Amino acid sequence: MTSKSLWADVDVMPAAGSLAEDVECDVVVVGSGIAGTSTAYEVCKRGKSVVIIDRGRIAGGMTSRTSAHLAPLCDDLVSEMTKIKGSDATKLFCDSQAAAIDRIEVIQEQEEIDCDFRRLDGYLFQGRDMTSDIIDQEMDAVREIGAPVHRLVGMPFNGCANRHVLRYPRQATFHPLKYLSGVARACRNNGVTFFRDSPVEEISEDNGIVLVRTTRGVIRAKHAVVATNSSISDRFAIHTKTAPYRTYVMAFEIKRNALPDALYWDTEEPYHYVRLQPGPDRIDYVLVGGEDHKSGEADDADERFKRLKAWARELISGLGRETHRWSGQVLDTIDYAGFIGQDPGCKNVYVAMGDSGQGLTHGVVGAILNTALIMGEDHPWKELYAPGRIPLKAAKNFVMENVTPVKSFAEYVAPGELHSLDDLRRGQGAIVRRGLEKIAAYRDEAGALHLNSASCSHVGCHLHWNSFETCWDCPCHGSMFDVKGQPINAPAVAPLDKR
Ligand SMILES: Cc1cc2nc3c(=O)[nH]c(=O)nc-3n(C[C@H](O)[C@H](O)[C@H](O)COP(=O)(O)OP(=O)(O)OC[C@H]3O[C@@H](n4cnc5c(N)ncnc54)[C@H](O)[C@@H]3O)c2cc1C
Ligand code: FES
Repeated sequence: MTSKSLWADVDVMPAAGSLAEDVECDVVVVGSGIAGTSTAYEVCKRGKSVVIIDRGRIAGGMTSRTSAHLAPLCDDLVSEMTKIKGSDATKLFCDSQAAAIDRIEVIQEQEEIDCDFRRLDGYLFQGRDMTSDIIDQEMDAVREIGAPVHRLVGMPFNGCANRHVLRYPRQATFHPLKYLSGVARACRNNGVTFFRDSPVEEISEDNGIVLVRTTRGVIRAKHAVVATNSSISDRFAIHTKTAPYRTYVMAFEIKRNALPDALYWDTEEPYHYVRLQPGPDRIDYVLVGGEDHKSGEADDADERFKRLKAWARELISGLGRETHRWSGQVLDTIDYAGFIGQDPGCKNVYVAMGDSGQGLTHGVVGAILNTALIMGEDHPWKELYAPGRIPLKAAKNFVMENVTPVKSFAEYVAPGELHSLDDLRRGQGAIVRRGLEKIAAYRDEAGALHLNSASCSHVGCHLHWNSFETCWDCPCHGSMFDVKGQPINAPAVAPLDKR
């Protein structure tokens, strides 16, 4: 089965065209995922003229690959965040994530968006290692910040009657692209212009005006919000504080009510997650995810899906036919909070990136916070998410995540994966050495070769082939390139050098 998400069939803004000439506006938003589209919504509601521009289709980035858990806590564990940020900042973080869910709830209601939004309980349950004390630690940490939590024993999964569980009320879920379709429609009704298939190549400032350059024209604006999942305005500083991880999801059919509609995840490392989504004819979909690894460090999706499927079939009774499988990236930050606010090197450019698996709520936090900053207002979340912050207590995570670029550059002296291009099968990609250089080689189904430099166009890390998604992944900061070398995930903006 090839990669396709459960949400992907929804076209969020079919009427969008591509940029064809220079335009001017108050605020330009680069990127149309949940962060960008939500920002466009908040800003236009404050009376600003807004243009939103995307490299591909509207909301076709990581938002179209999510698993749609709206979590008002820290998904890297409240106890872990408290160790780094202390309980006051952790409480503020959880309150801001909860406020994001409240905002989604209000918007879908006010704009009459039919997006399957529902409030649900979330269950964190002990994984197979019953000796782990994560549940105890998490209970104490969540209580300390005053968030609602209840402790139980037993889960509605096979063999889990003795597992210790934390139940969190008032979590939520929705259909992300149905939601964004409604938000985009509301934006358009408020005068927002959408441009798709228009890659932004450069963002700069000149005398207080922001210039967003594309091959098809320049957008001049008083403010820009860079919501490209991984920032394209900051070249390096923020990226050293994040790390990309690939995560895998499968969807299966299940009879309605066979499993209580709730959000489930376990304490294993990496953790498994389970959500439900209404389907047609009294059949629902169960989404099962996990098997995360650092981007580019494995190319064994089949094995990972096999393990996920075995885990799901063992735990969930009545699991039917597999309907979808897909993968995507999340950006873990070294202190578990995203980077939202004024871009450290700029005056009128704002960023929203870094999500640690909570990118949906982070996207909406970004929309609320960046809108306040654009309007010249102060905001209690400003310091918590400040892109320029240096979280000293996260030094261990900083060092751990920045080993990747060092390892990546060392790969340039290693031999290629194939001796000769003749060994490359149709549909296969591999790294081949040519003299001193490494080449990212792909042979398409018709037999034609596509040869590009294996050096990422962001800051030069060594690329890795991803056979499941048929693309080149960069392990350092999450850029992805298609087989022809075009960037398909930020922070890269330039294509790979042709060889
Ligand atoms: C499998 C999976 C499961 C997940 N599960 C959850 C979950 O349960 N809960 C949760 O909260 N989060 C989850 N996440 C994370 C969350 O979905 C993402 O972090 C979030 O959707 C990112 O939104 P975004 O708007 O920041 O980025 P995106 O949706 O990626 O949008 C960025 C947009 O910017 C555009 N862009 C990039 N570069 C340029 C350029 N140069 N010019 C113009 N446009 C550009 C892209 O084309 C894209 O459309 C999951 C992610 C994955 C992959
Ligand atoms: S994404 Fe930064 S070097 Fe590749």
